[in-house]
Amino acid sequence: MQKKTVLITGANKSIGFETARQLGRLGYAIWLGSRDDARGANAVRTLSAEGIDVRPLKIDVTDDESVRGAAAQVEREDGKLDVLINNAGIPGQMVTPSQQAVDDIRNIYETNVFGPIRVSQAFLPLLQNAGGANIVMVSSGLGSLGWLSDPDNQFYGVNFLGYNSSKSALNAVTVALAKELAGLGIKVNSADPGYTATDFNGHSGYRTVEQAASGIVWLATLDEDGPSGGFYFDGAVVPW
Ligand SMILES: NC(=O)c1ccc[n+]([C@@H]2O[C@H](COP(=O)([O-])OP(=O)(O)OC[C@H]3O[C@@H](n4cnc5c(N)ncnc54)[C@H](OP(=O)(O)O)[C@@H]3O)[C@@H](O)[C@H]2O)c1
Repeated sequence: MQKKTVLITGANKSIGFETARQLGRLGYAIWLGSRDDARGANAVRTLSAEGIDVRPLKIDVTDDESVRGAAAQVEREDGKLDVLINNAGIPGQMVTPSQQAVDDIRNIYETNVFGPIRVSQAFLPLLQNAGGANIVMVSSGLGSLGWLSDPDNQFYGVNFLGYNSSKSALNAVTVALAKELAGLGIKVNSADPGYTATDFNGHSGYRTVEQAASGIVWLATLDEDGPSGGFYFDGAVVPW
């Protein structure tokens, strides 16, 4: 029987890399997405040395041609994809909302919102071929309007217009795709990995990449009875 396959975008380091490692240990065949060949090859070497079944896949989520090429390669080699994890993301400038340049916000949306839309659309035929596929959007607690508007929430004061609203928009994408794809047996969920020590935040986060990846892996491995169209942190529902 063909192994289950998973593509993780932005998996050459940090949360995406650890997610690849954890799913590899569970027996998945990994497509390790990286926009840079050398960084992808390095990451593949590390996981291969740990005994994980992993192949590099060059994919820049902001680039139509790159995404189409990646989907064509997976089609040629496997003909299906069981799990898609839209993990690649950027923070943009950390400035006050009234000072953030529209160009910077557009740039953030290109990666964090249009990227997952572009990749999900391109891989949809392969996800359909798998039967019972899962899509996971790596969102953020900073995309939760419920948390951000609650003065008692720890993230209330983290007021970044571009990044936070990009993750709220990504959550809206989750809801829209989940509704459409339910009829095809494809589940779509958002994961909040929590504030995690990575290059993303100069390693200021208080969670480990192992903790961050585990909630993503839970959603990636849901069976047909699992939920769809939800937003979760460590398996618990996060308010939209
Ligand atoms: N760290 C946190 O506290 C935290 C909290 C909540 C949510 N998240 C979310 O978790 C995800 C991963 O974050 P992280 O902390 O692991 O960040 P990270 O350390 O900065 O890693 C981001 C990854 O995304 C890749 N990437 C960026 N732009 C890309 C593009 N256009 N195409 C393909 N890959 C691209 C990067 O590739 P390069 O190496 O080539 O730059 C890198 O592999 C993001 O979506 C982030 O918003 C993080």
